[in-house]
Amino acid sequence: MPTHLRNPSTYHPLIFILLLRYNVIICFNIRPVVNAVPNLFGQKYIHAIDIMIELSIIAPTFNEVDNVAELIKRIDNCLQGVAWELIFVDDNSPDGTADRVRQISRTDPRVRCMLRIGRRGLSSASIEGMLSSAAPFVAVIDADLQHDESVLLNMLEILRQGDTDIVVGSRYMAGGGVGQWEKSRAQVSHFATRLSRLALKAELSDPMSGFFMMRYDAMLRCVRAGVSGIGFKILLDLFASSPQPLRFREVPYTFRDRFAGASKLDMMVAWEYLMLLLDKLMGHTVPVRFITYSLVGGFGVIVHLIVLTILYRGIQFSFLTGQVAATLLAMTSNFALNNMLTYRDMRLRGWGLIRGWLLFVLVCSVGAVANVGIASFLFEHRTFWITSALAGVLVGAVWNYAVTAVYSWRKP
Ligand code: GDD
Ligand code: MN
Repeated sequence: MPTHLRNPSTYHPLIFILLLRYNVIICFNIRPVVNAVPNLFGQKYIHAIDIMIELSIIAPTFNEVDNVAELIKRIDNCLQGVAWELIFVDDNSPDGTADRVRQISRTDPRVRCMLRIGRRGLSSASIEGMLSSAAPFVAVIDADLQHDESVLLNMLEILRQGDTDIVVGSRYMAGGGVGQWEKSRAQVSHFATRLSRLALKAELSDPMSGFFMMRYDAMLRCVRAGVSGIGFKILLDLFASSPQPLRFREVPYTFRDRFAGASKLDMMVAWEYLMLLLDKLMGHTVPVRFITYSLVGGFGVIVHLIVLTILYRGIQFSFLTGQVAATLLAMTSNFALNNMLTYRDMRLRGWGLIRGWLLFVLVCSVGAVANVGIASFLFEHRTFWITSALAGVLVGAVWNYAVTAVYSWRKP
């Protein structure tokens, strides 16, 4: 076989005509024709067959409808002469962000929308966007224009030299800054940066940055080695997951004000950050969701005891009525907390919430029976009472966790 047929990158300038009736394949090169009459094919078509995409820029979005067009315009301005594409990864924003992107991509094939339904999370969106790229280099940038897109070209030039895996936009090095931040936000950011040292293997000046560009192959190595994909801090996650130290460079930039829309940063982001650190520190031994699930379970025991005390000792209900009510209330509060914390990225709403709760109660009731059964069995066979009780709790917890993970928080 001639070599140009074996190498897929040389396929596109050829047209193959398959004449099945005569069992022959005719192929000829149309590049000279295309070059001779460019207007026949239109500039964009020629662009598509001549240029291999060098850079995929990933912009995760949630409710950023009024920022989309401006981001595209600014990237277009500052990346003249570069073969780039821009992938918006949208988590089904109610404000119609995905529709706006799709409308633009109909006439601008450099832009596309990856729509995720029933999922949330900046980190996981960035990872899936990067993985969908065919380019040698990938970048992640916020869609609200807080990151300075004019730094992208500099980042790309550094990567092209070949001795760097990742270039990070930093607010905390000479030449960078955080613009108009309130003192409290700056303090929180500094504290979070200090905490990150627990999981981080590299001396980054701004590990909380969400603005970077990296080699696709280096990114893939990190993801394959077990990136967590929890919460907002994708850069930290990549660095902490990399099987070998990433060769990094930092470039300064100033964090700007939002162009339009509102920030998604809330208290839960802090919680997710702690979960990420926990996962990086001990995720190889115990899944971080199980840890959260167990903490919620522990809290449920307290709820149970309080309700039982009020009903049985306070209002003088029968012990059985008190137990049933306490069990139901503890299960319900456990379900609500798990939905908010443990499964925040796939939070149930509406009918899904009711269905999930029913299944949760059902599964946990079986778990409770198993718990009591195993504890009694061990106790009767002369196991120390605390050990018997703990074994029962452990079996019940693992059962509840494993089964509700599949039935309550997975789509049917
Ligand atoms: N797909 C998706 N899913 N995108 C999301 C989600 C989500 O659940 N949550 C937020 N985003 C998108 C936003 O639409 C925006 O484009 C970007 O992620 C950043 O979100 P903001 O709400 O603007 O966050 P921020 O400005 O507080 O945080 C940024 O600055 C930090 C530095 O302090 C982020 O870039 C962080 O990564 C960065 O570390
Ligand atoms: Mn922002």
